[in-house]
Amino acid sequence: MTLDVNRPDLVVGVVGTGAMGRGIAQVTAQGSPERGGMKAIMFDAAAGGAAKAKAGILETLKGLVAKGRLTDADVAKTDANLGIADKLEDLKACHVVVEAVFENLEVKQKLFGELEAVVPPETILASNTSSIRIASIARSLKHRERVCGMHYFNPVPLMKLVEVIRAADTAPWVTDAMVALGKRQTRVPVVVGDTPGFLVNLGGTAIGTEGLRILQEGRATPSQVDAVMRDSCGFRMGPFELMDLTGIDVNFPARKIIYEGFFHDRRMTPSPYHESLYAAGRLGRKTGGGWYAYDAKGAKVDPGADHLPSVVPATRVVVMDSHNEKLVGLVMAAGAQALGADDGRSPILVAPIGKDCTTTVVERGLDPRRTVAIDLTGDIAKRLTIMTAPGADDLVRDAAAAILARTGAKVTLIKDSPGFIAQRMCAMIANLGCEMAMIGIASAADVDTAMTLGLNYPRGPLALADWLGVKDCHEILLQLQAITGDDRYRPSQWLRRRAQLGLSAMTIE
Ligand SMILES: NC(=O)c1ccc[n+]([C@@H]2O[C@H](COP(=O)([O-])OP(=O)(O)OC[C@H]3O[C@@H](n4cnc5c(N)ncnc54)[C@H](O)[C@@H]3O)[C@@H](O)[C@H]2O)c1
Repeated sequence: MTLDVNRPDLVVGVVGTGAMGRGIAQVTAQGSPERGGMKAIMFDAAAGGAAKAKAGILETLKGLVAKGRLTDADVAKTDANLGIADKLEDLKACHVVVEAVFENLEVKQKLFGELEAVVPPETILASNTSSIRIASIARSLKHRERVCGMHYFNPVPLMKLVEVIRAADTAPWVTDAMVALGKRQTRVPVVVGDTPGFLVNLGGTAIGTEGLRILQEGRATPSQVDAVMRDSCGFRMGPFELMDLTGIDVNFPARKIIYEGFFHDRRMTPSPYHESLYAAGRLGRKTGGGWYAYDAKGAKVDPGADHLPSVVPATRVVVMDSHNEKLVGLVMAAGAQALGADDGRSPILVAPIGKDCTTTVVERGLDPRRTVAIDLTGDIAKRLTIMTAPGADDLVRDAAAAILARTGAKVTLIKDSPGFIAQRMCAMIANLGCEMAMIGIASAADVDTAMTLGLNYPRGPLALADWLGVKDCHEILLQLQAITGDDRYRPSQWLRRRAQLGLSAMTIE
């Protein structure tokens, strides 16, 4: 069997015309026939729901006419392409039906059963579910081979990604057709396995759970983690501001579903701190408080992430324990003098990979009171993260911070942590991406495409491993695993092999 989704008379049914269905109908109907321009028939169980959604789409498009981005003729064409169905039977001529009703397995199973009774056996039935296994929706149908997932992102017209989910029984012609349909809808489709969280929502657990782990260990504050992810690693948002934006009532249950779905894999372990906010009803921006407080105008009240040293150092001398070019460059940019041998008084600078400051001083036999560890990951011109071992001399530490601040970078002081913030956050994101590629949730290239488009990451997880350095990324995880004793940090075999061979994380097998 096959379906030519580029045929000019293709008809797509959209069932459930809430936030998502409305967007799906818009990208289907809008545009020229090569890029969109299809007939979309909208149905909603709520009386008047589909008509309201259609009116909303046309209103949005008229707004774009006012901005000069569309013409009245474009709006008229979309208007003509959008049909309203009063009952499910009106969808019988559809070649494809995309479902976007409430996120409830029984509701979806019932609807798919009703749809099967209405449409011919070759009509493709797709679900936009975010968390329900596609196979469980298809389970009791006669023609399970024509069922797949079509997971769009909110708001659909702006978010280019669509995950095409192949369930156990989905036929290859169905995923092929839905990839082509996604492209015609001007989306970027990636084919993804029918596993909990699919690709993007699973991949997205790494940043949130590791941020929470750092908080739970008392190593850094939400504000510090977010600032480092933005300034050092180029993320548009850190994990805590992202959780507040999407809503704790959305992301905490999602974390639990994925953790349960992977049978308590420690890489996906949620945090009791997250649950505490959920239980308290502190749901983020929408309730005026989450990880952050928000003022009356809704602006974030950020306690700040910068360490402002209380001392002006008498001398600008530092001790370099070993040669590290990036560290030497930093010391020179600060206008400081670097000593190769310990003078017994100055700060000793180290730049560990994966290790905490304590392990570093013990292994190298350094003075723990004067040793300051600096993270050289990412954009060191913007922000530098430093940490010291317990019992360190605050004045020596602040002298080092003041010297480093002379480079123009902001300085964040955290508690001693294996992999600081940036190293462990990025290594965990990269590691989960490698694992997803290894277990075949999607191809390596699609893992990166989906994570950049679906979550606005500056680079995908595999590119992030390359950015850290594949060997360093692997080393960070090994150190985290050794120091914490937590299996959560075990490196993916995908990453391990590429680190051993000196290859890019994107090397396919
Ligand atoms: N909102 C998101 O960010 C997002 C992102 C990706 C996927 N999803 C998924 O998309 C689906 C829809 O989410 P939403 O946010 O648009 O929900 P929504 O509540 O905005 O809309 C759901 C619509 O479905 C209608 N409906 C309910 N049962 C129906 C039935 N049996 N037949 C016909 N219509 C029915 C409702 O009247 C409502 O208009 C869910 O499965 C959700 O998990 C949501």
